[in-house]
Amino acid sequence: MSSSSMVQPIAIVLLAVAIAPGLAVGDSSVINATCAELKLQPYNYCVGVLSANPAAAAATDVRGLAAAAINITADKAASTLRVISYLVDELSICRGQYTDMLQSLATVAADFGAGRFENASFEMSGNATGYPQGCDILLFEGNSHKDPIFKENAENDLLVRLASSILNLLTGRWI
Ligand SMILES: *[C@@H]1O[C@H](CO)[C@@H](O)[C@H](O)[C@H]1NC(C)=O
Ligand SMILES: *[C@@H]1O[C@H](CO)[C@@H](O)[C@H](O)[C@H]1NC(C)=O
Ligand SMILES: *[C@@H]1O[C@H](CO)[C@@H](O)[C@H](O)[C@H]1NC(C)=O
Ligand SMILES: *[C@@H]1O[C@H](CO)[C@@H](O)[C@H](O)[C@H]1NC(C)=O
Repeated sequence: MSSSSMVQPIAIVLLAVAIAPGLAVGDSSVINATCAELKLQPYNYCVGVLSANPAAAAATDVRGLAAAAINITADKAASTLRVISYLVDELSICRGQYTDMLQSLATVAADFGAGRFENASFEMSGNATGYPQGCDILLFEGNSHKDPIFKENAENDLLVRLASSILNLLTGRWI
C-alpha cells in the first residue's frame, strides 16, 4: 500500500510533463483546418491527438497529418500488442496456479471426506490458500501492468481464507 502512495506523486509529475507539450494545442492552423473538415470526427479529440504529436504539429499539409496519424495509430497498436503479449504470458502462469489450486482443494476435500481433518487443514493453509494472491502479485508486478482478473483473485482469496479458517477452527489449530 505504501509503495502505491509513493508512486502516485511521481505518476502525477510524469503526467504533467506528458501534458506540457499539449500547451501547444491549437498552434497549428493546418491541424485546426483539417480537423474542422472532418465531419465525423470530434473536433477537440482530433486537435488534441494531432497537436500532442511533434510530427503532426510540424506538418504543413494534410498529407503530413495523414502520415503522422498513421504513425500515431501504428505506435498505439504496437504498444497494445506488447501489453496483450505480456498478458497472455502472465495469464497462462495464472492458469497454472489456479489448476494447482483446484488440485490442492481436491486433496483437501479427499482428506476431509476421509475424516483426515488435520491433513486437510494442513494442505489448505500450506498450499491451497496461496494461489489467488500469487496470481494477483504476478499480474500487479508483471510487465502488462494490467490485472483483468483482479476481482476474481480477490474473491478467491477471501473464500479460500474463510474455508481455511473454518477448517482450522475444526481442528483446533490457529485461526
Ligand atoms: C486552433 O483552434 C484552437 C481551438 O480549438 C484555438 O485555440 C487556436 O487559436 C487555433 N489556432 C490557430 C493557429 O488557428
Ligand atoms: C513512428 O514515428 C517515429 C518517429 O519517426 C518512429 O520512431 C516510429 O518507429 C514510428 N512508428 C511506427 C510504428 O512506424
Ligand atoms: C500444492 O498442491 C499442488 C497441487 O496438488 C501440488 O502440485 C504441489 O506440489 C503442492 N505444493 C506443496 C508445497 O505442497
Ligand atoms: C496425514 O498427516 C500425517 C501427519 O502429518 C501424515 O503422516 C500422513 O501421511 C498424512 N496422510 C495423507 C493421506 O496425506
